[in-house]
Amino acid sequence: MSGPLVVLVGPMGVGKSTVGQLLADRLGVSYRDTDDDIVAEQGRTIAEIFVDEGESAFRAIEKAAVHRALAEHDGILALGGGAILDAGTRALLAGQRVAYLSMDVEEAVKRTGLNAARPLLAVNPRKQWRELMEARRHLYEEVATAVIATDGRTPEEVTEAALDAL
Ligand code: S3P
Repeated sequence: MSGPLVVLVGPMGVGKSTVGQLLADRLGVSYRDTDDDIVAEQGRTIAEIFVDEGESAFRAIEKAAVHRALAEHDGILALGGGAILDAGTRALLAGQRVAYLSMDVEEAVKRTGLNAARPLLAVNPRKQWRELMEARRHLYEEVATAVIATDGRTPEEVTEAALDAL
């Protein structure tokens, strides 16, 4: 199987970066995050891209970054929370080892709070979270080869669960 050793998907704030880094350390491979790729390539934050150009322009930039990273990276790769909205990306994930880090809405509200750096949660976080989860849960499940619940677990516990499940 070519491509990343493990791809991490799941909602923003679920801990993909922290767990991804821990997994990479445990497995002795490198960690890469497509949000970081986008910020480096664009020279602006994700929030700035949303404000300057809107969500659909961001999704096009994201799609290119995700497809590039899937082709180039052989370690642990974390995707932005909305990357699975793209059908072409979901098709590319078929045949990959994909861990979906999940959390329920209340955990999501608790973890992300009123973080204005996340453009999709700027107005009413609980309502927006509920809608995001309803729209996306089945897409995460569609691409996942393992589902790891993170509610009430530390990043170290989630990492152990992922290592067991993968
Ligand atoms: C988004 C998730 C973010 C980032 C952008 C949009 C989403 O990534 O790509 O704010 O649509 O869920 P993280 O999941 O890494 O926070």
